[in-house]
Amino acid sequence: MSQTWWRGAAIYQVYLRSFADGNGDGAGDLAGLRSRLPYLKELGIDAIWLNPWYPSPMADGGYDVADYRDIEPVFGTLGEAERFIEEAHELDIKVIIDVVPNHSSTESEWFKEALENPAARDRFWFADEPLNDWQSIFGGSAWSQVPDGQWYLHLFAPEQPDLNWANPEVHQEFEDVLRFWFERGVDGVRIDSAALLIKSDTAYEDLDEVHDVYRRWREVADEYGERVLIGEVWLPDQERFARYLRPDELHTAFNFDFLSCAWDPRDLRRSIDLTLSTHTPVGAPPTWVLSNHDVTRPVTRYGRADSTFAHGGRLHGTPSDLELGYRRARAAALLAMALPGSVYVYQGEELGLPEVEDLPNEVRQDPMYARSGGENPGRDGCRIPLPWSGEEPPFGFGTGTPWLPQPEGWRKLTAEAQRTDLGSMLNLYRSGLAIRRERLGDGTLTWLPLGEEVLAFTRDSGLTSVTNLGADPVPLPAGEVVLASGPIEDGLLPSDTTAWLV
Ligand code: GLC
Repeated sequence: MSQTWWRGAAIYQVYLRSFADGNGDGAGDLAGLRSRLPYLKELGIDAIWLNPWYPSPMADGGYDVADYRDIEPVFGTLGEAERFIEEAHELDIKVIIDVVPNHSSTESEWFKEALENPAARDRFWFADEPLNDWQSIFGGSAWSQVPDGQWYLHLFAPEQPDLNWANPEVHQEFEDVLRFWFERGVDGVRIDSAALLIKSDTAYEDLDEVHDVYRRWREVADEYGERVLIGEVWLPDQERFARYLRPDELHTAFNFDFLSCAWDPRDLRRSIDLTLSTHTPVGAPPTWVLSNHDVTRPVTRYGRADSTFAHGGRLHGTPSDLELGYRRARAAALLAMALPGSVYVYQGEELGLPEVEDLPNEVRQDPMYARSGGENPGRDGCRIPLPWSGEEPPFGFGTGTPWLPQPEGWRKLTAEAQRTDLGSMLNLYRSGLAIRRERLGDGTLTWLPLGEEVLAFTRDSGLTSVTNLGADPVPLPAGEVVLASGPIEDGLLPSDTTAWLV
């Protein structure tokens, strides 16, 4: 792969706790992931991004990091992580890890020291009383009190105290953490809550000084060559978003505008055009994201009358036509893979898993659920352990009882069941990624005028992608169909279907 492998990469997101369990304790781990590397190789991805794997009390699924330089014992050991990186590299798969710089954990050494010694509190946001009325993103106040009466800021759960980026020690610490992992061969980092680091008394999102942090990180990354910085930047203003991607800052960032779109040709075209026009001036490749560990799975989302995504209530319990959603998710997968730039695949998307909406409340673990007083169901429904094989739970996930229950009906969705079914979602992803590797990825597109309800474009390689979002079948342009998300009859592309032609 070239110096700029990340510009067109297909990146597979591993939510480790739910990927594969190697030791039978019901939680996914590095042993499970290592044993499934051949599956990922066969799927045809270029890189793996892992959610946080550090020691953590798991108040927020590992986004409460107690030690940035080690591995959570439930997941394995640092030695195993190093072996995993080597094994992935042997298969020509890059490894991207998650770095969480906005906040740490109440169990981190720094926070424990701060609790014991008020003189050591400047690495966090401590004050004699709340400095503002900010609400936590998970619900409730963003300020909590410690036993001696002071308050500290946490934009997320109380177990996730925000770090104070006005303190040079915090900068030093994270530059060291980056080096620690780059030296162990990690090819890139996904930066959690990347726009929130810098705070004033009245604002915390997208303050200008945050760019100084990433300019410095870019210098660190560049010292190691071929390492990529990927921002988790949720900003509605795409011009502001693109500022993170200036040539001396982050390499890429997740495209949440595209993810949040309704399954609607106008909304999607608007988002694609906006994405291309904001990325081109800064020279950064766009990313195409349909799903991740925080959002409702596409099969469920696209089967609803309102198919947009927003964090709020997540439209939980709104009726979804899963057959329709599945069909659209197939069409969307090929659309996303065909667009210029890199593409993300969240584990289970390639199996067409739906959101699990009927989890018993007592098993829900996401702090979003508890902190919203149950109003928001939270994100557990997209984090269910993967079904690998067999006829009943745990579906080959491991020998123990999975940490979240799997639906009985997933027997039809196991990787094993889909492997031999040529029409399966798994085989659509495999074929799509294989063609993508040869002909798609980084570059530009040219729109083809096939009507308002048809998203059709040709890529530099000559491949044409056509997605019909209208109700009626439409004629395909000339060419040989090399892949389609559904059957094509008499040269007509049915509703909610994508075809690729050369
Ligand atoms: C990001 C993560 C999410 C986490 C939050 C706080 O949005 O994707 O899972 O809860 O940051 O770290």
